[in-house]
Amino acid sequence: MNHHKLYTQARRARGPVGRLRALALLSAAAAITAAGCASLPSPKELDAQADAMIKAAFRDQGIAKIDRVQQDLAQSACSSDKIPAPETMQKIMQESMATVKWPEGGRYLGDWREGERLAQNGRGMTWTDASTDPKGNGAQCYNCHQISKAELSYGSLGPSLYQYGKLRGISDPQSPSAEPILKYTWAKIWNSNAYMACSGMPRFGHAKLLNEEQIRHVMALLLDPKSPVNTQ
Ligand code: HEC
Repeated sequence: MNHHKLYTQARRARGPVGRLRALALLSAAAAITAAGCASLPSPKELDAQADAMIKAAFRDQGIAKIDRVQQDLAQSACSSDKIPAPETMQKIMQESMATVKWPEGGRYLGDWREGERLAQNGRGMTWTDASTDPKGNGAQCYNCHQISKAELSYGSLGPSLYQYGKLRGISDPQSPSAEPILKYTWAKIWNSNAYMACSGMPRFGHAKLLNEEQIRHVMALLLDPKSPVNTQ
C-alpha cells in the first residue's frame, strides 16, 4: 500500500464510521509522509491503528453509544479500497433482503401528508436526543431526493422520486399489478442494500430509524395516486 492508495481508500469511505476510519487513515498517511519512511505498515496494521484511534477518541454520550463504530459486513466491505468481490456483494444483498420485515396484513400505504412531514424532517439519533425510539425521528428523504414539485430545496445524491408512482403506472395501489412495485419500494426503504450492496441510502427499517407505521407514510407519499408527488 502506498500513499496514493491510502488517500484513495480514505476518499471512498462510506458512512459516519467509514469517514472516521478515513480520518484515521489520513493522519496515519500524513505521519508517514512527515517521517519520510521507506516502508509502510501493512493494511492490516493500519486497520488496527485506525480501530485503536477511533476507540480511544470516542465514548458513550447520551443515546449515542460506542457500538456505532462497529461495522457490519456491508459497511466494512463498502469502505474498503477495493470494490467488493461479486460474491461479497451477492452475500450483502441476500442478507439485507432477509432483514426486511414486511408490513402487517399487507398494508403498504399510510397517509401521504404524514409522509411529507417525515420526509422534510431530518431530526433524530443524535446524542442530544432523549431516546432511540424511532417514533421521534424524521425520515430526511429530501436530503438526497427530489420528491414533490413544491419543495425546491432538496439534495441530489439520490435519483428524483418526483412522480414516483405515476411513472410506474400505479393508479390503484390495491390492484395485484401494483404489488411488485409496492414490495420493491418497501424493501428498498427497509434496507437499501437489498438491491445495491454499497448503497449510500440509510437502511431505515433495519437500522430502526423509522418504524413500520412511518415507512407506510413515506410509501404513501411516493405511491398514493392522490399524493402531490403524483398529481402535480
Ligand atoms: C443519504 C442519502 C439518502 C437518503 C437520506 C435517502 N435516500 Fe433514497 N436513495 C439514495 C441513493 C443514493 C439512491 C440510489 C442508489 C440506490 O439505489 O441505493 C436511492 C434510491 C432510492 C429509491 C429507489 C429509486 C428507484 O428508482 O428505484 C427509493 C424508492 C428511495 N431511494 C426512497 C427514499 C425514501 C422514501 C427516503 C426517505 C425515507 C430516502 N430514499 C432517503 C440516497 C438516499
